[in-house]
Amino acid sequence: MSRYQDLSASELARELQQLRDHYCVFQQRGLTLNMARGKPSPEQLDLSMPLLDFPAHAAGSSSDTCAILSRELRAGQPDDLRNYGELLGITEAQELMGAIMEVPAKNVVVSGNSSLALMFDLVSAAMSHGVLGSTPWQRLDSRPKFLCPVPGYDRHFAICAYFDIEMISVPLNSDGPDMDKVESLVGSNALVKGIWCVPKFSNPSGVVYTDAIVDRLAALRPAAQDFRMYWDNSYAVHDFASPIRLANIRNRCEHHHNPDLWYQFASTSKITFASGGIAALSSSQNNLQDIAKRLGLRSIGPDKLNQKRHSLFLPDIEAVYAHMAKHAALVRPKFAVVLRELDNSLGGLDIGTWTRPDGGYFISFTGLLGTAGRTVELAAAAGVTLTPAGVTYPYGQDPQDANIRIAPTYPTLPALEEASKIFTLCVRIAALEQLLRQDRTKEAETGQRRTKEDKTGHAG
Ligand SMILES: Cc1ncc(COP(=O)(O)O)c(C=O)c1O
Repeated sequence: MSRYQDLSASELARELQQLRDHYCVFQQRGLTLNMARGKPSPEQLDLSMPLLDFPAHAAGSSSDTCAILSRELRAGQPDDLRNYGELLGITEAQELMGAIMEVPAKNVVVSGNSSLALMFDLVSAAMSHGVLGSTPWQRLDSRPKFLCPVPGYDRHFAICAYFDIEMISVPLNSDGPDMDKVESLVGSNALVKGIWCVPKFSNPSGVVYTDAIVDRLAALRPAAQDFRMYWDNSYAVHDFASPIRLANIRNRCEHHHNPDLWYQFASTSKITFASGGIAALSSSQNNLQDIAKRLGLRSIGPDKLNQKRHSLFLPDIEAVYAHMAKHAALVRPKFAVVLRELDNSLGGLDIGTWTRPDGGYFISFTGLLGTAGRTVELAAAAGVTLTPAGVTYPYGQDPQDANIRIAPTYPTLPALEEASKIFTLCVRIAALEQLLRQDRTKEAETGQRRTKEDKTGHAG
């Protein structure tokens, strides 16, 4: 296919007319397809149904279910799992989540069902009470600031917006955040209090931070002593094939004499059940002591029964990998469908680029400047819901209006095939409209210059 930029205005117009005819056919079919939601599909959720067999699962084939359960639940013991207590989570769950985050269990707190909630709580506590004795951020003379690698995760940005934390975009390159910018901002401004990092299979680009980038992050010399990296390792074990290793943030920070610089988050939302799983936070002992004090105020203990269920279902990291291989078998073909359609329908047109992640939940598509909003609008009118344009940037504003997040996991394969076709069609229409608009603007400018030249009698 020829590059659209090489076509004349009349060729562009002809192509646009043909695609619009094709688009009308889709529109008339009244489809309702959705590529917006980064959710596991029902088939993925089915993989974890044995979790619900607990207590039968715990008892195995034994007939003495009650006795085995009593033992598993430590009935009558001081740490009876059916009772209050164990604020930091049960040991087996700390070990499980520690193995996923590659940190010792003693550095892990397992709490609640959502890692996002843990992030929110940490930011909230820093606003009201500071970090390890620092000035509460809400009492600072100026607004605190967070660095936001872009494109990034809209819910991180929403937390900042909620607390009126100023967001500073930094480019997320194929190896991780632009570290020259990060180092300069973090090192020079004590109002810069944090950076959001999704270091493995970032949302939405699927980028995995290289060792060199992780090392530079761990070696930061922040102007603010209460600066922290919010290391959201949501996709730590969500590889499509053999696991890609991410440098260990705890070890690297310790190596660079920055032991308290990191908070790491993970959950089983996309391993077992989304919002029916377990969530965890890991950090240095210093940070955890501070966090534990608060945990004891907001709750008398976590849901240890769900933690127990999870540790019986996933007794070690090998079990996690085996389980994630089943997820990969379901998810990989869906990414392949979208990528094939992008390659076939847009390859060579030079109107967009897209990522080819080795894991995670998203593909990041970048179209021509000024076309993302229009593409999403066209897709919606043809029955395909996409993530709204702009959300992958702070304040919901993509300065280039070019990035769109594609979420292939939830729809069925046939629905995804159809939705991808409509998506590429909309990308092409939006690009052609944009190129024709540019053409008309250029023509108008040339016309104006000529008129001016005619009037003044010479070319300037
Ligand atoms: C980067 C990232 N962090 C956190 C979450 C939410 O995690 P949880 O379900 O543990 O709150 C998501 C969900 O899409 C995500 O993509």
